[in-house]
Amino acid sequence: MTNADPIALIDQSLRVAIRAAFGEGFDDVDPILREAQKREFGDWQANVAMGLGKRLGKPPREVAETILSHVDFGDVVSESSIAGPGFINLRLAPAAVAAALSAMDTPTLGVVTEPSDHTVAIDMVSVNVAKRMHVGHLRSAVIGDAIARTLERRGRTVIRQNHLGDWGTPIALVLTQLRNNGVNLDQVTLEDLDTAYREAQANAKADRRGAEATRRFFAGSHRHAELEAQNEGADEVIAAAKQDLVQLQAGDPELHADWRKMIDCTLDAVQETIDLLGVRMRRDSDKGESFYNDQLAGVVESFLTSGKAREDDGAIVVDFPARDRPMIIRKRDGGFLYATTDLAAIRHRTHDLNADRILYIVDIRQRDHFRDVFEASRMLGWDTCADGTSAELNHLGFGTVLGADGKPLKTRSGTNASLMSLIEEAIRRGTDAVVARSQDPSAPTHGLSQEDLGRIGRAVGIAAIKYADLSSDAGKDYVFDMDRMVAFEGDTGPYLLYAHARICSLLDRAGGVPEGAVFQPQEPAEKDLGLQLLGYAKVVHQVSHSLEPHHLCGYLHRLAGLFASFYQQCSVLKAEDPAVQASRLRLCDLVRRVLSDGLDLLGMESPQRM
Ligand code: ARG
Repeated sequence: MTNADPIALIDQSLRVAIRAAFGEGFDDVDPILREAQKREFGDWQANVAMGLGKRLGKPPREVAETILSHVDFGDVVSESSIAGPGFINLRLAPAAVAAALSAMDTPTLGVVTEPSDHTVAIDMVSVNVAKRMHVGHLRSAVIGDAIARTLERRGRTVIRQNHLGDWGTPIALVLTQLRNNGVNLDQVTLEDLDTAYREAQANAKADRRGAEATRRFFAGSHRHAELEAQNEGADEVIAAAKQDLVQLQAGDPELHADWRKMIDCTLDAVQETIDLLGVRMRRDSDKGESFYNDQLAGVVESFLTSGKAREDDGAIVVDFPARDRPMIIRKRDGGFLYATTDLAAIRHRTHDLNADRILYIVDIRQRDHFRDVFEASRMLGWDTCADGTSAELNHLGFGTVLGADGKPLKTRSGTNASLMSLIEEAIRRGTDAVVARSQDPSAPTHGLSQEDLGRIGRAVGIAAIKYADLSSDAGKDYVFDMDRMVAFEGDTGPYLLYAHARICSLLDRAGGVPEGAVFQPQEPAEKDLGLQLLGYAKVVHQVSHSLEPHHLCGYLHRLAGLFASFYQQCSVLKAEDPAVQASRLRLCDLVRRVLSDGLDLLGMESPQRM
């Protein structure tokens, strides 16, 4: 019984004791176990006595005493006491920690898989064709990839979906502009597309009536834009583009070929960035808005026949009981909307992809859109898979990346910061730091080739960017501070990589973990480190449920910190007792593997030397 997680065993023992002490009706009372606030009294504490005291009408200290007189912790707890109003303090027996560490010391590191017949669909990256990726897409890619990797680690099949904005009036506007400019689409660059995008925007804006509509077309919230356009009446530029769109939708081969070239050009650039970032997403993830085009009439039809949509001044709208504003799913001119496409996408993901979880890693400003779309899809039961499982629809909205001035991050030219330029700078800074360190003759990187140093530098730079993005609550804005994020000290990605590399060097010098090493954590610093290691599976499980990678970041940062204190307080290479040294080396090795595994879930590489 001693080879299970000691905290789980304590939890179980306390539940049994509470039931035995207070009888029926006290089955499965949560003992409320927490890490101890004050380590001088114990390693963990149970806070259940306060609530139980209220319920029983007894002083909590008395309740705590009764629980302790009924409990059998076996050999897991070496010492228990009551403090303050009724906290139960528990000190863990080193042998119990050791046994749990041995049990965890397997290739899975204790992480339990929960395979399922269903898939998880993650809507991520989802750029708009003809536009350069900007820093907002970084967030979708990085957060989406970390969540995908974590779910995969837990045995789930994840389908990444790049829901490209490759259809509709904004795309037609650019296409028309390119044709007017006489651009040869066989040699088109993203630069050309971006320029045409801006020109199309400017031209359309020249028409005052259409200006607002155009601004919104390009601002992203398609739904409002199209609503607006409908109310204002089409202006000339938009009308011309719409003509092209109609032809494109009708399958005009020449327009279709041009459109395809535009997509390929955009996606080549996207793929280059995605690859450099180490985000696991390939071209077969692309399923843009155009994929759903021939399903849209059917979507509207389904809402109409089930009585969930009605006609309103020529448009088709869905009403929500709790809101005044309906959602348009077909415009007066017969065109479909961003929302119509998203409804088709939900149905496709539950019905065809068998997804019981659909996660949207999209800017938080699209919250209302997803709320409406989710609610509408539930009206028709489209959130249900073929086997009747109802799917979780979840918009994980992320905040804005800010510059030092607290405004959305811009480059000097005033346009949205190009993602590539930021990544390149981070890599350059990372590489400079790695190269500078390698000058020291005692550095483990001393004498490595430029190529190897470059590879390490790239890992450092990417980790810097990703960690800064992942380490705080995704819904919040964060300030993009290059100096801070590339630092080797502090709550940063490079700090974690460095901790990992240091342990690799240490193990190298020791010649690895000795055969037959047995864990024997004696010193408080060893026990703390051991307990932190034992929490790994729990945090991975937590992230796979809460979908909040920042908990894993926090966990790894604490682990690296505890390792640093351990290393300061306990000699490893100079330990006198070979058994103690063997135990410590095995502990180091486990820390190394947990760091590397955790970093991998966050999408970061962990070089052996730094
Ligand atoms: N292309 C959209 C935009 O840039 C984001 C798409 C998000 N995904 C979705 N299924 N709506 O605003």
